[in-house]
Amino acid sequence: EWTPDIFAESTIANLKQQLGNDKVVLGLSGGVDSSVAAVLINKAIGENLHCIFVDNGLLRKNEFESVLDSYKGMGLNVKGVDAKDQFYKALEGLTDPEDKRKAIGRVFIEVFDQEAHKIQDVKWLGQGTIYPDVIESVSVKGPSATIKSHHNVGGLPEKMNLKVVEPLNTLFKDEVRNVGRSLDIDPNILGRHPFPGPGLGIRILGDITPEKVAILQEVDYIFINGLKERGLYDDVWQAGAMLLPVQSVGVMGDERTYERVVALRAVTSVDGMTADWVNLPYDFLQDVSNDIINKVKGVNRVVYDISSKPPATIEWE
Ligand code: XMP
Repeated sequence: EWTPDIFAESTIANLKQQLGNDKVVLGLSGGVDSSVAAVLINKAIGENLHCIFVDNGLLRKNEFESVLDSYKGMGLNVKGVDAKDQFYKALEGLTDPEDKRKAIGRVFIEVFDQEAHKIQDVKWLGQGTIYPDVIESVSVKGPSATIKSHHNVGGLPEKMNLKVVEPLNTLFKDEVRNVGRSLDIDPNILGRHPFPGPGLGIRILGDITPEKVAILQEVDYIFINGLKERGLYDDVWQAGAMLLPVQSVGVMGDERTYERVVALRAVTSVDGMTADWVNLPYDFLQDVSNDIINKVKGVNRVVYDISSKPPATIEWE
């Protein structure tokens, strides 16, 4: 019989055997998978697990600080690395979505590699790969791979000459959450919506600047916080905002404005392969829209995305 407790217990025992006194380095993302993988490995080898959490400058508002705090609270040996400037510099002037993804992936590997080299004698790379990722990378030559290169860290273990340890690679997402619960991981981490590796970088259509990131972080924060306050967050599989490369005319007092448009998106899904837009209450959308336009300087129009996948994708890039 499979239970989360039995899985956790036997996995920790196996990891102890497999890893002995070896050191492991693992990149945390703030998401469910990497967090659960880290806690399992940490329970097996303690301080020999070195976690790295990179601020790529494309995270949600306050995310870096708050997630880092909760990791430390979980007893993980984690180093936060502020690499915002490196990412912004590499992204300067890039507008093509795939070019942006590649640049973000490349800088991530550079930063991670550099940090990992500061740890003496690392033998293993820990990863939160889950079963659907394994399937996807086997069939990754299919059409979806050419639509979007979802995995940003391919090639990392070879480059670093590390063996890979992936304690979750037989599990589905809901099983990972259950294992996380049995390990007492913060429900805020376990219940989080998925968030793409390139983060807000693929939600700012066109080129990325720190100013645009700051605008989108505020918009996204108002929307996500609103979902939480209205008790809607857990009914939604994923939500976020897109900063469009479009300006529109508005009025503010007696003044004509010519400012940015943002699109809100919320979907239900099982695995991200198909998705339906969520019929959010009109009065909620109205409140969020007012809040955004009143509070976020530079935005004068909010639209809601009512496209399902397929044929639209969840992200706009
Ligand atoms: P799409 O936009 O293809 O997204 O419908 C499906 C799911 O994948 C996420 N996504 C990504 N995740 N790197 C990631 O780690 C990426 O480049 C990437 N692009 C899309 C998206 O957020 C959704 O959950």
